[in-house]
Amino acid sequence: MPPFFPSFAVILPAAGSGSRVGGNVPKQYLPLLGKPVLWHSIRAFSQMEECVEVVVAVNPEWQAVAEECGAGIERMTYVAGGTERQHSIANGLLGLRTTPEIILVHDAARPCVSRRLITQVVQSAAAHGAAIPALPIAETVKRVDANGAIVATIPRHELRTAQTPQGFRRQLLLSAYAHATLHNILGTDDSSLVELLGHPVQIVEGELANLKITYPDDVRKAEAILVERKPHP
Ligand code: CTP
Ligand code: MG
Repeated sequence: MPPFFPSFAVILPAAGSGSRVGGNVPKQYLPLLGKPVLWHSIRAFSQMEECVEVVVAVNPEWQAVAEECGAGIERMTYVAGGTERQHSIANGLLGLRTTPEIILVHDAARPCVSRRLITQVVQSAAAHGAAIPALPIAETVKRVDANGAIVATIPRHELRTAQTPQGFRRQLLLSAYAHATLHNILGTDDSSLVELLGHPVQIVEGELANLKITYPDDVRKAEAILVERKPHP
């Protein structure tokens, strides 16, 4: 019998301006193999039958383009983005129309996320309440002062870099956001808000290919990853 696989919804924050990539078009709408980055991010989730809803937080100026990315897919919901990533996701939580067991949050700017990774995060979140993909650090990490002098070398075996999709039992994520709003806390990811509740978060092995488009050259890298992954004839 296959392992139990719960239903999930995904919130895709897609309302950033992509200032580090630059240009007039936010990175989530740049073409990747002929389709916008967001198109690929939506499909990574919508093609899984356990996915009951895809919520996209968009800048209203780009709503029509975002809706084209989700055209033909059932259970799409669009909400307005906020000034910070966390506000965009908070709007997504308010806009949810389903009550799935698990909610995933995934950067729209990570179009190469694999089915393997989504599956592992959903299953680990169902088992532990909260789970995120993370990667070990390849280089030695230094803490520096304001003048650029090294203050300390941090043992890197204790460190991981966090990716998305981050997965949570629905009520846990809602509690974390309610707590953050009440205490005016702004986190850089969703896990950090759950951590502040004192709830453990489980790590699953992230993927190098699950890159976040951040700088101009990353679009080309993402394209190479998707081409490589396409089934060969
Ligand atoms: N995001 C969002 N709302 C914001 C800011 C960011 O929905 N107010 C989204 C982005 O669209 C992206 C994800 O959060 O999919 C991760 O953010 P990041 O990589 O920082 O994207 P940007 O903020 O757009 O880029 P930059 O920081 O270079 O301006
Ligand atoms: Mg940003």
